[in-house]
Amino acid sequence: MLVSHVEEHEGTRRDFLYYATAGAGVVATGAAVWPLINQMNPSADVQALSSIRVDISGVEPGTQLTVKWLGKPVFIRRRTPEEIEAARAVDLDELPDPLARNANDSGEAPATDENRSMDEGGEWLVMMGVCTHLGCVPLGNAGEFGGWFCPCHGSHYDTSGRIRKGPAPENLPIPVAVFDDESTLILG
Ligand code: FES
Repeated sequence: MLVSHVEEHEGTRRDFLYYATAGAGVVATGAAVWPLINQMNPSADVQALSSIRVDISGVEPGTQLTVKWLGKPVFIRRRTPEEIEAARAVDLDELPDPLARNANDSGEAPATDENRSMDEGGEWLVMMGVCTHLGCVPLGNAGEFGGWFCPCHGSHYDTSGRIRKGPAPENLPIPVAVFDDESTLILG
């Protein structure tokens, strides 16, 4: 099943591409797409999908694709040079959480932007879209550090998804992910 949806939020454009079991049709609706998807995919079904392929060919620099994986949103952001530069200029001593939180490494790596981004140049950042405080979904292009802002209790994440201010204790986690080719990302 392929669900494609475009949502306007605070002037940003977020595309939703969601791959699930094969053989179903396409659903494209308005703002109610998330509840609809949730109803159509009981968590047990979703959790059976341990690995999904995501078409990222339509993601423009400065925009974010959000997909649902294992019942949770995953942010796939194609960053601008300015976002990358800002993330890489941060002194690690300023970070409340010193670890990269990247499931693709040993778990001990420091929270440099290089250790969190998918590619050497840092254009692609893939993270779970779940606030590490109490689990709300942070908003993109928002907050005092130009990354994500969680409106539930005011956590600010930078352009690398690292917690910078507020009650969240950890950086947004990086899931197991790999590029299959230049336009396809595999999660899980
Ligand atoms: S859930 Fe995000 S700040 Fe509390």
